[in-house]
Amino acid sequence: MLMVSIIGLRTMRADEGMWVPLLLHKYTIDDMQKKGFKLTAEDIYSINKASLKDAVMIFGGGCTAELISEQGLIITNHHCGYGAIQHHSSLEHDYLTNGFYAPKMGDELENQNLTVTFLVRMEDVTDKVMAVIDPKMTENQRNSAINKLIADLSMAASEEGKYNVAIKPFFNGNQYFMFIQKVYRDVRLVLAPPSAIGKFGGDTDNWMWPRHTGDFSVFRIYADNNNEPSEFNVENRPYKPIKSFEVSTKGIKEGDFTMVFGYPGRTQQYLTSFAVRMISEIQNPVRIVLRQNRIDIMSKYMNESDLIRIQYAAKYARVSNAWKKWIGENRGLKRLNAIEKKEELEKEFEKWANSKQVKKKYDYVGILNEYKQLYTELSPINLTLDYIFEAAFAVEIINLSRSFTALLDATGENALLGAKKRLNAAADAFFKDYNADIDKETFAAVFAPYALNAPTEYRPDVLNVLNTEFGGDAMQWAKYVFDKTIFSKKDELIKFVEEFDGSEQKIQMLVSDPAFEIMESVVNIYNDKIRIKQMALEAKEDSLDRIWMQALMNFQTDRNFYPDANSTLRVSYGKIESAYPYNGVKYLFQTTLEGYMEKDNPEIYDYRVPEKLKELYLAKDYGKWGENGQMPVAFIATNHTTGGNSGSPVLNANGQLIGVNFDRSWESTMSDIMFDPEQCRNISLDIRFALFIMEKYFGAERLINEINFAKE
Ligand code: ARG
Ligand code: ASP
Repeated sequence: MLMVSIIGLRTMRADEGMWVPLLLHKYTIDDMQKKGFKLTAEDIYSINKASLKDAVMIFGGGCTAELISEQGLIITNHHCGYGAIQHHSSLEHDYLTNGFYAPKMGDELENQNLTVTFLVRMEDVTDKVMAVIDPKMTENQRNSAINKLIADLSMAASEEGKYNVAIKPFFNGNQYFMFIQKVYRDVRLVLAPPSAIGKFGGDTDNWMWPRHTGDFSVFRIYADNNNEPSEFNVENRPYKPIKSFEVSTKGIKEGDFTMVFGYPGRTQQYLTSFAVRMISEIQNPVRIVLRQNRIDIMSKYMNESDLIRIQYAAKYARVSNAWKKWIGENRGLKRLNAIEKKEELEKEFEKWANSKQVKKKYDYVGILNEYKQLYTELSPINLTLDYIFEAAFAVEIINLSRSFTALLDATGENALLGAKKRLNAAADAFFKDYNADIDKETFAAVFAPYALNAPTEYRPDVLNVLNTEFGGDAMQWAKYVFDKTIFSKKDELIKFVEEFDGSEQKIQMLVSDPAFEIMESVVNIYNDKIRIKQMALEAKEDSLDRIWMQALMNFQTDRNFYPDANSTLRVSYGKIESAYPYNGVKYLFQTTLEGYMEKDNPEIYDYRVPEKLKELYLAKDYGKWGENGQMPVAFIATNHTTGGNSGSPVLNANGQLIGVNFDRSWESTMSDIMFDPEQCRNISLDIRFALFIMEKYFGAERLINEINFAKE
């Protein structure tokens, strides 16, 4: 038995936490100030005056961005603007490869469907929620009562559509906050570095330190004559901020206070040992292997052909990002002895919960047993879902075939016509970036482990053919499927859709297509055997999580709890700090252009340094942005961050912008489950590097001139 200390779990560890802006004055600001922060809680979040929160926004669906000028100029990551940059790119205007800069405001590019969302104010609505529920309700009754209240409150707070309203549970449903938001819908692309800067090092360097990626892009918010949101309109004007960040170019040093202010997506800090075991021992290993198989196949083909490299660049990045994160997460959890630590804590908890005084007050005896039982049942379900999403639907044609059930479901001529139109458009988009050889090999590589290891009670019969018909040879099975299916053949598929008339013969053709057949049997397993059970178990999980959270708070009375990330605005604070990830290795807190040049390798796509950057480097032409003959690129700090924090402003003790957050080191990725102050480092782009690229690489004087620099 491992002896592990639980002291670390007892009290709040330094730098851990993602704090709620509205509550800073209560719990956090004293400690922040003790660590060097010079502003007040009101300066960060206020509804009475302009505050830093007015300069931060949700960018698109899942990133953060911040204002840096009085004319609506915002900065975020290159990987956050990637979709928009790609959308504007063509062979003639390859902005991904060459970068983009709009020399005049009129050249800034419109982006359909790209929005930024500001927080106007937030409100604690816990009392209102608690007033409509009572402890005797089932989870379902509770949820419908809450949803009804949310609808009513949202209606009232939206002021006839002027605001977006969101109400979100905190601390697993023990607290609720309402968010009144304003959404701007005319957001234009201003500047993006070439991928050789913005994505330098690609997926090899992703999640790694030392890092030399210039991961930023620049956009501008436009508003109507009254500075209010409007759809894209040539008449719109640059948005006039309530507040924009001052940019500090003074430089940074080890130990400096840092604050990250953004929209972290999801963390799970309060899981029990049972859940951590399920994730790290059952789910992650399977997901990792399945993705590894796909990555190997994609890289093989991408290295052989430029066309395929372009077609699969975004897919590869998506598959590889989570794959690499899970590997790091599992290593980190193991290094931390996360399961043992949680078990120790749970043992102590049981002792406490069973003591006479506690039993008089609370009914916590048995909760851990209930958890244990729950995860015994939930594990095979979650594992099956992993196989469904990471194996079955990882085959692109099987995933594509899901939407074709619309042909079977359409009732009436018009509905059928609409469905056909949508499907043809989907097929068109699909084949633009599709390679059937990759998909066929992928089929064999993911269906072999699926057929071998799927939990028996949720195993679709269709997996049996591997042995009964193909002698266990998954590639033979793949060949058969891809030979016969129409889903991998553009012309055949489009012809089929066009000719589809709802006749028995056509329906037969569809349902007997091998890709469609596999998709249907997988979906049927889900609908027939999993869905209802899963819903019941997750309802149980929600209710246990809610009680467990209360129980932990009552048990660990000296711990300063923070709510898990839930895509709402949070403050993380820490300091610039080097790290010692492995025996004999030190991570310095800063990288410079020097290291960027060291990585230069014309043979490897992701490491080709652009000529122009080499020239600037050789001439040491860094303008105002360099320091002692060096050009800083990125730095690490101890801020607790997660997915969604990308693009977040990194601020110094005066609340001035010193960087743009974009990643974590590989040794940090378990921080979504357990944070380790020794190892966890967020990675930020030094703002001076972005300014250097703007001015020296693009000659973007007009942007430099409008940026709000701190007087220092
Ligand atoms: N790891 C970072 C995050 O989770 C960056 C991902 C994008 N970059 C990439 N090479 N896939 O979002
Ligand atoms: N790269 C992540 C993002 O895009 C940030 C992280 O997970 O640390 O939000």
